Amino acid sequence: MTEISERIVLEALGQIVDPARGTDIVSAGMVKGLSVEGDTVRFIIEGDSWRGAALEPLRRAAEEAVAALPGVRHVAAILTAPARDDASARSRSAAPPELGPGRARHPGLTPGGLADVRHIIAIGSGKGGVGKSSVTANLAAALALAGWQVGVLDADLYGPSQPRMLGVAGQPTTLDGKTMKPLVNHGIRLMSLGLMTDEDEAVIWRGPMLLNAMRQLLHQVAWGRLDCLLVDLPPGTGDIQLTLSREAGLGGAVIVSTPQDIALLDARKAITMFEKLEVPVLGLIENMAWFTCDGCGRRHLLFGEGGVAAEAARRKLPLLGALPFENALREGADSGVPLVLSAPSSEAAKGFRAIAAALMDTLERGAARP
Ligand SMILES: Nc1ncnc2c1ncn2[C@@H]1O[C@H](COP(=O)(O)OP(=O)(O)OP(=O)(O)O)[C@@H](O)[C@H]1O
Ligand SMILES: [Mg+2]
Repeated sequence: MTEISERIVLEALGQIVDPARGTDIVSAGMVKGLSVEGDTVRFIIEGDSWRGAALEPLRRAAEEAVAALPGVRHVAAILTAPARDDASARSRSAAPPELGPGRARHPGLTPGGLADVRHIIAIGSGKGGVGKSSVTANLAAALALAGWQVGVLDADLYGPSQPRMLGVAGQPTTLDGKTMKPLVNHGIRLMSLGLMTDEDEAVIWRGPMLLNAMRQLLHQVAWGRLDCLLVDLPPGTGDIQLTLSREAGLGGAVIVSTPQDIALLDARKAITMFEKLEVPVLGLIENMAWFTCDGCGRRHLLFGEGGVAAEAARRKLPLLGALPFENALREGADSGVPLVLSAPSSEAAKGFRAIAAALMDTLERGAARP
């Protein structure tokens, strides 16, 4: 029997274009909950409730495209409206449709920076290279899969990595000569200085320029209505973190660390900095906690054991989850498709979905500002 991979199904669905958005249903983030069991493929197509029966042709086209794949015998495609709380559903139901990239008019995205963003959450670490950007991209994808409207602000002005990790290219356009339109992929809105500079170009910022650039990314971007804006921080505890905390109304911070002592040392500094700035630390994520060997099937601990959990307990902070080292995660980052979407049944993707659920729960319980 032909093995059906989620990737092939997503490729087939990626050919189906939603005429209302001018983009395919996968990039538009409309395909949710994809599962493949034997010869049966199930998925959800999520569309705005006001479009009602107009979405049926899209659902049928998607079902037919998957049914035509070798090895597929049963397909179930279900239409749903995004899952939201009642209040936000009410306020959004009257909203005009959101337009995909490349569309000229933008009635749904009013200029106004962060006014319509419910939660602004920084992903920080203290130490470089522990996986902040990978966690940001995958967490954004997991939150979008769960039905949230998500944006990513790449605040690493020296080494922006989100355009690459989220597969976004092209220069942002402006709405009115002042306000930039975020670019969209996988249903995630992105703004990054990396979209305005050459990938190989080194950008030399002086202090005031750096802060001005940061302010523009915060306030001169038409973020529109978002449930959550994730801010991918540069390493360290410097000016960017300060400016963000003071001017963006950060609702909380999530700290990423490996279990290694030296990473934990820097994570502690980041926690202390956020506490001083009165930004609630919502929890810790342990990244690269283990590696499951595909030869012997055993878990190997790469950087020691339980360090992040112990630190979380010591500071009385939640451990939001632990993630394995997975080669596919790095490959996903390099190819612009977060692992959560490219390999949804992998160990790390499950970890990200659990972390997203824990974060949504924390935010909805009111730990962060509305
Ligand atoms: N769980 C993981 N499994 C495999 N590779 C990973 C994992 N997490 C991160 N990586 C890889 O480690 C490298 C560093 O990750 P990433 O860029 O996300 O870290 P960062 O903390 O944002 O770094 P910087 O401080 O430079 O911004 C990347 O090559 C990434 O693909
Ligand atoms: Mg980074």
